[in-house]
Order: sequence, then C-alpha cells, then structure tokens
Amino acid sequence: MSVLITGGAGYIGAHVVRLLRDRGDDVVVVDDLSGGDATRLGDTPLVEFDLVAVDAVDRLREVVERHAVTSIIHFAARKQVGESVAHPEWYFRDNIGSLANVVEASAAAGVTRLVYSSSAAVYGLPGGAAVTEDDATVPINPYGESKLVGEWLVRDAANAHGLRSVSLRYFNVAGAGWNDLGDPNVQNLVTIAIDRTARGLAPVVFGDSFDTPDGTGVRDYVHVMDLAEAHLAALDALATAEGPADAVVYNVGTGRGASVREVLAGLAAASGTDLEPIIDPPRPGDPPSVVADASRIAAELGWRSTRTLDDMVDSAWRAHEWRARTSA
Ligand code: UD1
Repeated sequence: MSVLITGGAGYIGAHVVRLLRDRGDDVVVVDDLSGGDATRLGDTPLVEFDLVAVDAVDRLREVVERHAVTSIIHFAARKQVGESVAHPEWYFRDNIGSLANVVEASAAAGVTRLVYSSSAAVYGLPGGAAVTEDDATVPINPYGESKLVGEWLVRDAANAHGLRSVSLRYFNVAGAGWNDLGDPNVQNLVTIAIDRTARGLAPVVFGDSFDTPDGTGVRDYVHVMDLAEAHLAALDALATAEGPADAVVYNVGTGRGASVREVLAGLAAASGTDLEPIIDPPRPGDPPSVVADASRIAAELGWRSTRTLDDMVDSAWRAHEWRARTSA
C-alpha cells in the first residue's frame, strides 16, 4: 500500500512526501523535475516522466501496479498566473491534460482515492467577506480556469469511475517546514520581499490605499506545513469508509487576513533589517482582500492551521539563509 505523489519533488509536494515518510507511509513520486528538485526526496523512489507524454497513462499504471498504490496526491502543475495569461494553451494542455491522464490511469488500475491541488484562484475577485466553498467560482486568469476545470473533471470522474476526491483550494502559501524544503521561486510577496531584503533592497508594497485596515492588500497566508498536514487529513479521510462524499472541495487557509505591511513587519523582525518599504501603485486586478472561510475543513476533516504568520515568515527567511549558505 503506498501513496503516489505527482509533483512530489516540488515545494509543497516535498513537504507532504516528508511528512508521510516520517509517519511510516510508503510513497512513490512521479515528477519530470521541470520545477522540482530530486534532492528534496532523499531515498523516496522517484519515477521521472512528463505526465502529458503520450505514454503517460501506461507509465502511471506501471507505477501503480509496481508500488501497490492505493491513493494519489496530484500536485504536478504549472502555477504562474502571469505565464498563464501569456500562454493559456500551456495551462489547459498541461494542467488539465496531466490530471486527465491521472484520472484515466486511476480508473484503469482501480485507484479510487485522489487529493487534488486546487487554488483560491478559482474564486477570481471575491467580495470583501471571507470566501466560502459555496461562493461563486469566477476565475480571472487561465491558471485559475485550469484549476477549476480540474475540479470539474474529478467530480465527473466520481460518476464515471467511482473516484473519490478531495480538492484543496490553497490560499497564499509560504514558509518552510525544513530548511532544505524552502520555496526557491521568487514569485509571491514573501519570496519576493525576502529576495529583496537579502540583497539590501527595500521591499515593495503594491498599493497602500485599498479599503483595508492599513490600506495595503490583505491575504490569507497559510504555512506550508499546515497546508501539508491538510493533505494528510484529506488522505486519511478518504481511507475511511464513511469519509467525505464523492467529490468534496475545501478551502485551506487560516481564516485570518494579514496585510502586506504586517507580512513585511514580520520579515523585518525575522531578518533584523529595517528597510522602509517602497510604495508602488497597485497591480491591475489585485483585489483588496482575499481571506478563506476555513470552517468546512475544520468541521469535516478536523484540520485547522496552527502556525502563526511569524512562524511562516521566520521559517521562510531561515530557509533562504540556509540556501544562500549551502550554495555559496
Ligand atoms: C497568489 C497567486 C494566485 C493564487 C492566490 C491565492 C501568484 C502570482 N498568484 O495571488 O495564483 O490564486 O495567491 O492562492 O502567485 N504584493 C506586494 N509586493 C510584492 C508582491 C506582492 O505588495 O512585491 C502584494 C500583492 O499586491 C497582494 C499580496 O502582496 O496584495 C499578495 O500577492 P502575491 O503573493 O502575488 O499573491 P496573490 O496576488 O494573492
């Protein structure tokens, strides 16, 4: 009995791999290493191939059979909003195509449990209040569209093939559970601000006159370890007979918003720097506030976040310093 993790060599996937291994589960990773890094995996078996290759379904079936796989966590995906606007075809082909191959191989090999990485991007521009899973899903970019279509596919596969799935809608993920698993990409507020701070440059605030308590954008920042634990809760629920219905969707956030200024204050404390942030105009289309209502996953899976914003920013900073030291 083992868990197949696609994209397990990536930032979030590698945290889940390590937590599962630490509790004694058998894991096999499928990753093409286009964004992942095999050194994160230690001695966890890795099968390297592209999930949209013509033989991907056959190769997945082989992995399922050889490793006696009983459940799958599907992380492998493209995840850059800007890139998705420039190349929507990459997002539709790769994000949906890879999931379609995972679903087909699961059906053929008799795997009936799937945890799917979705995103708060499916909501588009939510209104002011905390967003619930029943709110409208109106994505505003191809990345969010591809994640939403993926949710539809796993739901349809419940009827067609008896697949039972949990789709987790991640809010803003940052931090590191271990120094070697920090996020190496410089693509979101935490990693961009850390990168600038480490180079002695002041972090940049995109807009300070939103209708929010301090005027800067508010998001729901969830520690990657909390997020990783949500995957274990989903997996365990699927393993029980009375577990979730065929295809369920959960927000994974803290339920609390933090402003850009709060995040930057945390970073200043963690790094011991006092660079005064630069105020730039808002990015086009940035909503003032996106915060999860995370009560459904708490009620149904018993999962809630336990780490603080400071834990998150501290751990991200320490992982960055560790990487700078070890790659020097
Ligand atoms: C991110 C994801 C999006 C996902 C969402 C929730 C990206 C590009 N987008 O969006 O796919 O749906 O989380 O999961 O990763 N900011 C600054 N200065 C900076 C960088 C950002 O002030 O240097 C501000 C932004 O204006 C925003 C907040 O920080 O208010 C967070 O921005 P970012 O980390 O890019 O994430 P989102 O835009 O929320």
